[in-house]
Amino acid sequence: MKVVHSVEDLRQIRREFQGSVGFVPTMGALHKGHLALIQNSKRENDHTVVSIFVNPTQFLPGEDLDSYPRREEADKKICEIAGVDTLFMPKISDIYREDEVKLKAPEYLGYILEGHRRPGHFDGVVQVVMKLFGIVWPDRAYFGKKDAQQLRIIEKMAEDLFLPLKIVPVETVREDDGLALSSRNVYLSPKERQKALSIARSLKRASRLVMSGELDSLKIKDEMQNMMSEIEVEYIEIVDREFRPINRVELQNSIILVAARVGKTRLIDNIWI
Ligand code: PAJ
Repeated sequence: MKVVHSVEDLRQIRREFQGSVGFVPTMGALHKGHLALIQNSKRENDHTVVSIFVNPTQFLPGEDLDSYPRREEADKKICEIAGVDTLFMPKISDIYREDEVKLKAPEYLGYILEGHRRPGHFDGVVQVVMKLFGIVWPDRAYFGKKDAQQLRIIEKMAEDLFLPLKIVPVETVREDDGLALSSRNVYLSPKERQKALSIARSLKRASRLVMSGELDSLKIKDEMQNMMSEIEVEYIEIVDREFRPINRVELQNSIILVAARVGKTRLIDNIWI
């Protein structure tokens, strides 16, 4: 595995690749969710590039940019064992310049739900992902359904800007007890972790309700809210695949989303119906 720090070196290596290139952008502190993206990329491409870059522009003032887990050495080993061909770990100054051209997330999709609680977050995400695409120039790029809104925004960016690449969605990876893997799970104390399980449980309950014929969004959301009484729920929303809220669940076309705070940790999860 080649570990590359500068944009120029990455470009040089990229020029020498023959065959297809799969790309997995991450912010590090790698876990089994990231590994699933890497495995998908390895299966479908001749080369797999992973980036690790804690992107400052997608954190709002007061968020966890400084405390975000950084595990360079462990991450390198994980990538090596996973069979990653090239690991790109740039510095902030390699990626950002002064007074640069800026991309903006869509007015609607970028500013509802996560974008409403974290205004500007998705502007930072599209900015950095577009830059990384410009450096790596992949044939396929892999994103987790765990961050459903981010995935849709990136898909839309690829469509709207006519990017010659394919965005590949990957299923959410969970612990055995249902908790969705997240780099932020390390912030949870054992007690908080136990409470956080109610998020995945409420989503599972919601999907069971739908399977048994309950399609009324309000009733489903009420039941979920009751199951999450011990944590601070920010939102429970049922939307279609374009993220428009719906009163009745539509099979094959709905996503149920939750954001909640458990202690100081903010967690998101969702289920695709
Ligand atoms: P990060 O949170 O490190 O996530 C990197 C990728 O892993 C994202 O596509 C995310 O959806 C996926 N992922 C995270 N947890 C997952 C899980 N439990 N199952 C499956 N996939 C999972 O998302 C980002 O970084 C950043 O916003 C980034 C896209 C890298 C831009 O900075």
